[in-house]
Amino acid sequence: MATSTLICETPQWKDLNDHVEEIKKTHLRDLMQDSDRCKSMITEFDGIILDYSRQRVLPATVEKLFQLAEVACLKQKIDRMYNGEKINCTENRSVLHIALRAARDKAIKSDGKNVVPDVWHVLDKIKEFSERIRSGSWVGATGKALTDVVAVGIGGSFLGPLFVHTALQTDPEAAECAKGRQLRFLANVDPIDVARSITGLNPETTLVVVVSKTFTTAETMLNARTLREWISAALGPQAVSKHMVAVSTNLTLVEKFGIDPANAFAFWDWVGGRYSVCSAVGVLPLSLQYGFSVVHKFLNGAASIDDHFHSTPFEKNIPVLLGLLSVWNVSFLRYPARAILPYSQALEKFAPHIQQVSMESNGKGVSIDGVPLPFETGEIDFGEPGTNGQHSFYQLIHQGRVIPCDFIGVMRSQQPIYLKGEVVSNHDELMSNFFAQPDALAYGKVAEQLLNEKVPDHLIPHKTFPGNRPSLSLLLPSLNAYNVGQLLAIYEHRIAVEGFVWGINSFDQWGVELGKSLASQVRKQLHLSRTKAEPVEGFNFSTTTLLTRYLE
Ligand code: F6P
Repeated sequence: MATSTLICETPQWKDLNDHVEEIKKTHLRDLMQDSDRCKSMITEFDGIILDYSRQRVLPATVEKLFQLAEVACLKQKIDRMYNGEKINCTENRSVLHIALRAARDKAIKSDGKNVVPDVWHVLDKIKEFSERIRSGSWVGATGKALTDVVAVGIGGSFLGPLFVHTALQTDPEAAECAKGRQLRFLANVDPIDVARSITGLNPETTLVVVVSKTFTTAETMLNARTLREWISAALGPQAVSKHMVAVSTNLTLVEKFGIDPANAFAFWDWVGGRYSVCSAVGVLPLSLQYGFSVVHKFLNGAASIDDHFHSTPFEKNIPVLLGLLSVWNVSFLRYPARAILPYSQALEKFAPHIQQVSMESNGKGVSIDGVPLPFETGEIDFGEPGTNGQHSFYQLIHQGRVIPCDFIGVMRSQQPIYLKGEVVSNHDELMSNFFAQPDALAYGKVAEQLLNEKVPDHLIPHKTFPGNRPSLSLLLPSLNAYNVGQLLAIYEHRIAVEGFVWGINSFDQWGVELGKSLASQVRKQLHLSRTKAEPVEGFNFSTTTLLTRYLE
């Protein structure tokens, strides 16, 4: 395909569009009867099972999606990413988060230079530093061990680490390593979040980690200054060097801020913010909390999926299959949203993290060459752990709008409970729902069944479920650090696959800039009004009215 050709102009796209009519004639209730079809839609890698038989696809659909992948040059684009080519062309950057979890002896190049030794240099430094903090050999200004960490950062410098921390908290091995320690996050510039993040903490025993790729993000820098003052006020300004460290690509600004460059942990411009949890962004705070060896297992889990994604034929390649199915749902069946439904409370922060990775990556209006797209990209991601979500928004998914669902289940609970006299464990109860919901969505319930159940006539329309609602199931063996790494990488690569097929740049995020620059105009106005009592000027009627009221 010529680079300037939009994917929607290819015969393969048109073929899939035509194929929708054929799919419209099917119902999942019937498709699920075909065990050969279902068998071909279950695949497994490194303990993870993917079942996509409840997607609205025939084997022919999957074949057509592979043809679309071919014309989109998916394989070549994946290779270009792994070869360190500057596929983020609007920022002239490689996209190499895979290098962050590569084994020490691997070679992955950016600008002709193997970046893996640099990655391991920082990982070794984190290992050493976190061991000193955890063992108490590094102490705070008053000689006390630093048992508590507040990680200050926002967006990609927050959501990924929070997701992994929340997942590891309940893993027995990780929890054992975290005994006596606390890890908190401060993201929002709302002063309430500052209060929440330090309530009950003693500055004498607290280490603040400022996490910002650019070290310019307004919210993070204000929160960092706020915590610097909190430390200085309690322990004196000289205490800052003992109580504050940084993670950034901008070491000059780190030093300017007053953090000793020796206590800064670098990463690189080839790591996108939302793909940075495997860099010092996540590895430092998580190693401080759980120890480096637990975090290393998390990196290894992600690395296993990186190899799988790079080398497995598409028919059995979990991220590729997931990505192509998403393209099918969004672009052809026109389902704009996707629900991420982990049947695991430990994954409660997974959907918020994927929301950023997916929506900041793929919510684009032009092709990678800058051509306006005549079709919509990206999907609206949201989710909650099951079973909580079932008592919240599932009503809409069952009888309202069609929203393809990702059901994520875990075979072995990290915290099993077996009540005396009860054979079905608490985890079994949870998983009963994980297994039941996809069928409820796929099969629905017809009037005839309701009549047999003697449901009164006037209630039949209300109790009917249309079914034919697509979902897929991912079953993980457990939820240890390794599995968490696998899950992360599966979704990261799935999102890349979608972007590669749509022909967009999934690795820039210009859409967040406009709001930032308008906020800075408002900030200037607030400054002028507060210092020189100047009236609000240069805004539209609505903003002027509200700003004036706010200033009053
Ligand atoms: O909100 C946009 C964004 O640029 C994200 O992509 C990024 O993760 C976040 O801001 C934080 O940026 P930084 O790490 O530079 O503070």
